[in-house]
Amino acid sequence: MAWGALLPRLRGGCLLALLLLLLLLLMAYTTHRRSHMDRLDGGVVDAQHVAKHQTRHVLFFNRVPKSGSEMLVLLLQWLQARNGFRHVRLKNTVKRYLTLDQQAALVEEIGERVQESLEPRLSFDRHVYFTNFTLYGFKMPLYLNLVRDPVEKVASRFYYARVTPRPGAPTPPGFTRPPLPRYTSLEECMHHQDPQCTFQPGLSYDLTIPYFCGHQDFCRELNNEAALNVAKRQVDAWYPVVGVLEEVNATLAVLQHHLPHYFAGVLDLYHNELLAAPHYNKNLQRPPASPEVAAALRTNLSLEYDFYNYLKQRLYRQFQELPVT
Ligand SMILES: *[C@@H]1O[C@H](CO)[C@@H](O)[C@H](O)[C@H]1NC(C)=O
Ligand SMILES: *[C@@H]1O[C@H](CO)[C@@H](O)[C@H](O)[C@H]1NC(C)=O
Ligand SMILES: *[C@@H]1O[C@H](CO)[C@@H](O)[C@H](O)[C@H]1NC(C)=O
Repeated sequence: MAWGALLPRLRGGCLLALLLLLLLLLMAYTTHRRSHMDRLDGGVVDAQHVAKHQTRHVLFFNRVPKSGSEMLVLLLQWLQARNGFRHVRLKNTVKRYLTLDQQAALVEEIGERVQESLEPRLSFDRHVYFTNFTLYGFKMPLYLNLVRDPVEKVASRFYYARVTPRPGAPTPPGFTRPPLPRYTSLEECMHHQDPQCTFQPGLSYDLTIPYFCGHQDFCRELNNEAALNVAKRQVDAWYPVVGVLEEVNATLAVLQHHLPHYFAGVLDLYHNELLAAPHYNKNLQRPPASPEVAAALRTNLSLEYDFYNYLKQRLYRQFQELPVT
């Protein structure tokens, strides 16, 4: 009998059929999950809702500190004349967490600037947590931000604070500037469990997630799942693009495509003019974090990494979907 010869072929066919079935199941599951997630979002990521409540005439870069934002502000300042908009740097760069009254004042300040302006479009930047303009009767701006690898950000902040104390910088009443780190390296600082370089789940920090989640207390709590989910939802709804500092080329290409009224020509500008200019505000001598320190930080900053990876995946997807030119 030919059983012996038939069996391997039969087995191969079964395996293929099984794989196909698995693939189909996976596809069905993802589709189901996606529609389920849309429903969970309660219409916030519904494109019609966004189109109705967001104005394309105002861009708000509510920048995360130590993530390359000065570079992006510089590009906006250079682009404003050629793309016919005006960039406004909002004052008060120290306070990121605002009371309801302060949020209202921020939204009104932006609203007034827009009304007084003769330009068709304005862009703004300020270090401030995500603010709901709708709450104060205004349309949402096009939100924009730039993020960075969380360990790199911690290291950058640590060494920046050491070299740039800025003693004369104004501080609002009630704000106390954190003391300078007493240690000369991140390793040493962490070894002594200094609060400047250790991050404990459940305590509040000015990390990346609150810039997308908002002013409520839970948004600043380290590794708070609800904060992470709100942040992702706000990104999906209100941020057409969130750049990633480690992926400058993809960031600029996606910005140029999705926000052409502000970023047309940015790739050319960046490669042919900015890179040729002296790169200011960069702490060149900064030593890299040791593998042990980086691993310890990664463990405690786990949801910050979840968010960072989510944004990186989103940017890659947008980059891959760009029309080939
Ligand atoms: C903003 O506030 C409005 C009015 O209270 C509310 O309907 C909306 O869901 C809020 N949007 C976000 C993104 O929180
Ligand atoms: C991580 O968190 C634990 C407490 O949960 C704390 O003891 C430790 O110092 C933290 N490490 C870092 C690097 O933040
Ligand atoms: C970014 O783009 C420039 C110009 O096209 C290219 O020279 C450079 O290698 C790119 N960098 C990366 C990391 O892909």
